[in-house]
Amino acid sequence: MNHIEQFEKIIEQQKARVEAMKAGDDFVDYKSLDKIIIGIIGGDGIGPAITAHAHKVLASLLDEEVKAGKVEFRTIDGLTIENRSAVGKAIPDDVLEEIKQCHVLLKGPTTTPRAGDKWGNVESANVAMRKALDLFANVRPVQIPEKGIDWTFFRENTECLYALGSQGVDIDDDLSIDFRVITTPGTERIARLAFEHAKNNGKNRVTIVTKANIVKKTDGKFLNVCKEVAKDYPDIEVDDWYIDIMTAKLVDEKRRKDFQVMILPNLYGDILTDEAAEFQGGVGTAGSANIGKRYAMFEAVHGSAPRMVEEGRDKYADPCSVIRAGAMLLSHIGYQEQADKLYAALDECTVTEKKLVITGRDDGATGDEFADYILSKID
Ligand code: IPM
Ligand code: MG
Repeated sequence: MNHIEQFEKIIEQQKARVEAMKAGDDFVDYKSLDKIIIGIIGGDGIGPAITAHAHKVLASLLDEEVKAGKVEFRTIDGLTIENRSAVGKAIPDDVLEEIKQCHVLLKGPTTTPRAGDKWGNVESANVAMRKALDLFANVRPVQIPEKGIDWTFFRENTECLYALGSQGVDIDDDLSIDFRVITTPGTERIARLAFEHAKNNGKNRVTIVTKANIVKKTDGKFLNVCKEVAKDYPDIEVDDWYIDIMTAKLVDEKRRKDFQVMILPNLYGDILTDEAAEFQGGVGTAGSANIGKRYAMFEAVHGSAPRMVEEGRDKYADPCSVIRAGAMLLSHIGYQEQADKLYAALDECTVTEKKLVITGRDDGATGDEFADYILSKID
């Protein structure tokens, strides 16, 4: 295939995606389901250990619902780098099938191969899962009450440079081109989710972040579509910022308190949410929700720490990020009371009381002890 044909194929694929989005379903109504199936995906490295601790916490909180047949947990083991590399797929087919039988998922970290390492050129499992389940919104809250910070980032999760990140072209030895995709329905749906969140949570300001002064077509569309959606929310103040100055303003102690809800294209959102999580105590303290209309996946933001496993330290790995992701999952499927109890217990165990401390080594608590400590705070 020559480069022009390759480009034509990409255009056809993306047009089909636009049509599918336009025809798209409504959000699942979890209340209408007889049973909610929660998949627990261990992933790689420390993932199986920490997700097992999160599973234990969630199973205890939902004990009655499980007994009543309203909730079922399923453990999904196959999403490991060994399996992915062996079949040369970001998500092996049988694993994707198991995943699709669930309604919501809690996922541990999955190793993303780097160019040239022993795992070969497998696409990131995170990115593949977001695409395969159409998890278009990456919602990342960052809260630092003592500094007056209460931000929620709505990062678009399927488009931008990620949509065709593995389909760029080397034209010749000197010239390489990647493609950036922004669509009207893809922007509409993330914008609407962000504005609905603002409206339902008493927020009165939404900030759109782009670089539309330079990247005129794609960021221009993103900004315009967000502003169009904003017209349906006249009580919410809207402003737009460029990503460079926005990155600076998050450090500005006088101004940063004013931001509430942010909407961003995928890559800017990837970068800005790491910066924001760092103020809260590091990416390891953040949870991340990947929301689609049919599926939703909640995950720890940190990596798989294979070294900890090699050194036999996975039992000392900190399960707090994936447990926090579990609290987001509970809230998403309508168990708000249980979610609130879990958030409160997490705060007590990691901020106010800190009777047990995790160090990642044998001088600290194990993840299992920490999960029990969290459970001891929940009646
Ligand atoms: C994230 C991560 C992922 C991303 C990686 C692991 C592919 O950085 O969830 O923010 O780039 O989106
Ligand atoms: Mg990231």
